[in-house]
Amino acid sequence: MRLTIFGSGYVGLVTGACFAEVGNTVLCVDVDARKVERLRRGESPIYEPGLDELIKKNIAAGRLSFTTDAAEGVNHGLFQFIAVGTPPDEDGSADLRYVLSVAESIGQNLSDYRIVVTKSTVPVGTADKVKAKIEQTLVDRGVQIEFDVVSNPEFLKEGAAINDFMKPDRIVVGADNPRTAELLKVLYDPFTRNRERMIVMDVRSSELTKYAANAMLATKISFMNELANLAERVGADIEKVRLGIGSDPRIGYHFIYPGCGYGGSCFPKDVRALARSASEHSFSAELLEAVESVNLRQKSVLFEKINRYFNGELAGKTLGLWGLAFKPNTDDMREAPSRTLIDALIAAGARIRAYDPVAREEAERIYEGAEAVQFVESSAEALRGADALAIVTEWQEFRSPDFEVVKSQLRTPVIFDGRNLYDPQFVKRFGLKYYAIGRGDSVVDGAQRANAF
Ligand SMILES: NC(=O)c1ccc[n+]([C@@H]2O[C@H](COP(=O)([O-])OP(=O)(O)OC[C@H]3O[C@@H](n4cnc5c(N)ncnc54)[C@H](O)[C@@H]3O)[C@@H](O)[C@H]2O)c1
Repeated sequence: MRLTIFGSGYVGLVTGACFAEVGNTVLCVDVDARKVERLRRGESPIYEPGLDELIKKNIAAGRLSFTTDAAEGVNHGLFQFIAVGTPPDEDGSADLRYVLSVAESIGQNLSDYRIVVTKSTVPVGTADKVKAKIEQTLVDRGVQIEFDVVSNPEFLKEGAAINDFMKPDRIVVGADNPRTAELLKVLYDPFTRNRERMIVMDVRSSELTKYAANAMLATKISFMNELANLAERVGADIEKVRLGIGSDPRIGYHFIYPGCGYGGSCFPKDVRALARSASEHSFSAELLEAVESVNLRQKSVLFEKINRYFNGELAGKTLGLWGLAFKPNTDDMREAPSRTLIDALIAAGARIRAYDPVAREEAERIYEGAEAVQFVESSAEALRGADALAIVTEWQEFRSPDFEVVKSQLRTPVIFDGRNLYDPQFVKRFGLKYYAIGRGDSVVDGAQRANAF
C-alpha cells in the first residue's frame, strides 16, 4: 500500500520505517528541511535502537523516502498519517496547531479519496476538528472530494519502539465508517499474524484511550513515589514493599518502580492535557492533578537530598551525574528529571560533570553556553574531581559499577541514586554512603546525620 506520514519524529519515523519494512511504499513529510536532508542520506536524527538500520535498508529498497513537500505527500498515499507533535500549550492543553496545519495541507492538496489517520496523541474531539479543517479548505477551493478521518493512537515506548510497533500489544482504531476500519485492518495485518490485536471503537473513545493509558501508567509511578517518600519517613524499605505488593496479580510488578519522577515527551504533557480537558468540561480531575503534583515534587527529591547532605553549601561543589535521558535507550530529554536536577544545581552554584551513553548531543544543545555543566565521554570521567555522584537514568552500564573506583574518585564518598539501582548493604561495604529513594533511612538530615545504611 502507499502511505504518507506527516512528521518524522520518534513516532512518525518508527511508523514509516516499520510500514516500509513489511512491503509498503512510504513517503515521510516533515517541515524541517535539515532533518529531511539527513534522513535522505539514511541518517536517523534521533537515537532509537534498530531505527538507523531499518531506515537505511528501506531507503535502499526504494520503499521509504522523505520530502518537505506536503503536496507530494498528499498525492502519494491512500493513508495520510498525522504524526506531528502535540506539545503542551501554556495552560497545559494540547497544542493542536501542527495537527491542524497538516489537515489544512491535506485539504489544500486533496484530489482523490484519502484516509486521514491521526496518530498524534490528541484530545477527544480532535478528529472532528481535523475533519472540519479539511472540509473548510475544500469549500474554500470550491471542490468536493471524499475523505475519512480515523483515530489510531500510538502506544510505542521510546527505547523499544521498533519492537513495540512490530509486535504491538494492541492496535486501537477509532473509526465511524466501517469501511475505513476494514482497510486499516488490512494495513496492520502483517503485525497481527498470530492473533487479532486490533480493537475497533468509535473515534472519541479511541482518542481517550491513549490518554487513559498514559495517565494510568503515570498514576502507578506517582503512587509508588508517594509511598517511597512515606517509607523513608517511617523507616521502611520501598523496594521490599514493591515486591510485597507486586506479587498480587491484581497489582503486578510492572511500572511500580519508585524513582526521581517521570519525564519524557508523553506522560507529563498527557496527564496535564487530560486534566485540562476535564476542566474544559467543568469536571475537576483530582486524581490527575495529584499525579502531576506528586511527580513535580518527586523531580526535586534528589536535589533536596544533595542539598541537605552538603548543608545547603553547594556553591563550588561538583556533582558527577550519570544519565541525562528521561529513560534508558533513548536520547530524549524532554521533561527529563536530569534537567530539574541540573537546573537546581546550577542555581545553587554547583558544577556538574555529566555522562550519558547517547543523550550527549541533545544535552549539549539544551545546555549550550551553560558553563557550569560539562559533558564527558564515560561514567568514570564524570566521577573525576566530583564531590559526589548522582544517578538519574537507569542505563544498563550503571548497574554494576566498580565501587572501589567510585569511592577512590569521589572527594566525598557518597552516591545519590534516583533509580534504586544497588543493594544498599553491598554499597556500604565499600565505605560509600548511599542515599536512594524510599529505602530505610534515605532521608538526609545534614552531614552529621548522614548515616543512611
Ligand atoms: N515519543 C513517543 O514516545 C510517543 C509515543 C506515542 C505517541 N506519541 C505522540 O505522537 C506525536 C508525535 O510525537 P513525537 O515524539 O514523534 O514528536 P517529535 O517532536 O519527535 O516529532 C514531530 C515532528 O513533526 C514535524 N512537524 C511539525 N509540523 C509539521 C507539519 N506541518 N508537517 C510535517 N511535519 C511536521 C516536526 O518537524 C517533527 O520532526 C505526539 O502527539 C506524541 O504525543 C509520542
